[in-house]
Amino acid sequence: MTTLQSPPAAGREQMNIVVIGHVDHGKSTVIGRLLADTDSLPEGKLDRVRRQCRLNSKPFEYAFLLDALKDEQAQGITIDSARCFFRSAQREYIIIDAPGHIEFLKNMISGAARAEAGLLVIDAAEGVQENSRRHGYLVSMLGVRQLAVVINKMDLVGYDPDVFESIRDEYREFLARVGIEPAAFIPVSAREGDNIVGPSAHTPWYEGPSVLGILDRFTKAAPPVDQPLRLPVQDVYKFTEDGDDRRIIAGRIETGALAAGDRIVFQPSGKTSRVASIENFNRPPQAAASAGESTGVTLTEQVYVKPGELICKADQPQAAATSKLRVNLFWMSPNPMVMGKRYKLKLAGARAATWLTAIHNVLDASDLTTAANRRQIERHDVAECTLETLRPIACDTAADIPRTGRFVIIDNYEIVAGGVVLDAAAETNTLIADHVRQREKAWDRTSITNGMRAGRYRQRSALVLITGPVDHGKRDLAKALEEYLFNSGRFVYYLGVSNSLLGIDSDMNVAGERDEYLRRLGEVSHLFTDAGAIFITTVSDLDDYELDIIDTLNQPNELVVVAVGEHRFARRRSDLDLAPAQVDINGLRQIRELLQSKNYLMEYHL
Ligand code: GTP
Ligand code: MG
Repeated sequence: MTTLQSPPAAGREQMNIVVIGHVDHGKSTVIGRLLADTDSLPEGKLDRVRRQCRLNSKPFEYAFLLDALKDEQAQGITIDSARCFFRSAQREYIIIDAPGHIEFLKNMISGAARAEAGLLVIDAAEGVQENSRRHGYLVSMLGVRQLAVVINKMDLVGYDPDVFESIRDEYREFLARVGIEPAAFIPVSAREGDNIVGPSAHTPWYEGPSVLGILDRFTKAAPPVDQPLRLPVQDVYKFTEDGDDRRIIAGRIETGALAAGDRIVFQPSGKTSRVASIENFNRPPQAAASAGESTGVTLTEQVYVKPGELICKADQPQAAATSKLRVNLFWMSPNPMVMGKRYKLKLAGARAATWLTAIHNVLDASDLTTAANRRQIERHDVAECTLETLRPIACDTAADIPRTGRFVIIDNYEIVAGGVVLDAAAETNTLIADHVRQREKAWDRTSITNGMRAGRYRQRSALVLITGPVDHGKRDLAKALEEYLFNSGRFVYYLGVSNSLLGIDSDMNVAGERDEYLRRLGEVSHLFTDAGAIFITTVSDLDDYELDIIDTLNQPNELVVVAVGEHRFARRRSDLDLAPAQVDINGLRQIRELLQSKNYLMEYHL
């Protein structure tokens, strides 16, 4: 029987297996052997690779089979390079060869190929090495509960049961400390084919399963359909017909199921609506969709949501909306993780700027020793620490829902860490509130008070923030307001910010840069309002959390919010709503009346 290297047939059970272990311990050879001995290679492949080796006078390696398959893929056939496929009588296997931590964590967290079980390969001659332990720990941290340990290269130690047993006992003890009980320890020679798909005459003393045997004994986890709904919003598409304001919210269902008519809640915004329909690309709409499906939903009541929000069902446990996460993370960059530096957090669909604000405990995953009182996180450390974000993000603890409880950290466009959420605090915006408290305490004030400035300028200072959808004339209004107030003798300043910098659709927003920009804007506003000015600026499509950021940073000074057209607030309120058509002298008059009624503009009394 020959199967081509193509993705598994539909309808049969599939299982993702990750193969991990220290460098050169034989991961690729084990996989090559599994493919060869289960007849899973394309017709003639094995012979061709053997012949090629002879021609180049180099010894044949089973690991070359994987490279040869990759070459084939490079010629335009099916699969991505990290995975290969084979089948047993029982099911289809997708094998992920993980050459290093980064690839392993990426695969585990990105969702491209989440492992349900792991094979951990240890070289019998070298014994347990640093990465044998590290990978064992990471697998457990990431929630892979099924693991078999393959003690490879038994041919190099003369198939000596004592060597096998001593490695087994040492490694079993290590895994016990991270709470993993492996399904089996298997003495193997991948090169010679011992105990790969069947028993071996070289190890009469071993009575356990072969590698293929143990794979077939692994159990499929219950499908995440039974968990609460988690659907990260990847994109929002607008219907293009004139006058149609409906949107399709697209994403892949991570857990749970969704049907037309369901009441849903978007986290962290807390906005609610009801599913009107479930749409598909190039397929007729369906009544329901469940975990694993990519789908698009339309809503009965339009709410404005952004990519990165998590859709939950109103009648099920909700994801946490938090800006303070207690996590376990594995740090991979040669540059240590430090406090005060901005990193990027990617969790489910969300991306946010993040800061390390506390280190609770650091663990060396290769020997499980801990270090307290650490000021930074070094390469290969596993750290229990607190991460904070400027705006809340939606997540679950990894213990509750692993798929929305795992994250990666990006620095300089590279993944530098992966981890799991241990606890999500109910608090939001503590990072900025703490900063403002510190700032106000450290501020070096003079004898000139806000009251004195107000008297001098005949006005109370305020930040006038104009928001609304792009292209609604907010900037023209803001500029006109500055002129108007200036000409009536007020101390006023307009800060122009281009839409390309703050635009909701720009890459900045996706990358979490918008938060950083808003943070700066908040600080600048505070300087101007502290100096006594009426400070005017515009930001498109501000949501509750963004307004919180600016508002908090501008405190203790005051804020006036003017919305032009449809605003995006659910919890916060604008002080004045103008229709786009009112962006004229009429609108200006309304803003002036508002400022007067709130006593920002004092009149002369002669
Ligand atoms: P990296 O991907 O580089 O981490 O290595 P790996 O773990 O995939 O190891 P690979 O399969 O490439 O094997 C490394 C070396 O060990 C190769 O030279 C293999 O021929 C050799 N090797 C693998 N399995 C066995 C075995 O069972 N017996 C012996 N004697 N050598 C083996
Ligand atoms: Mg390899």
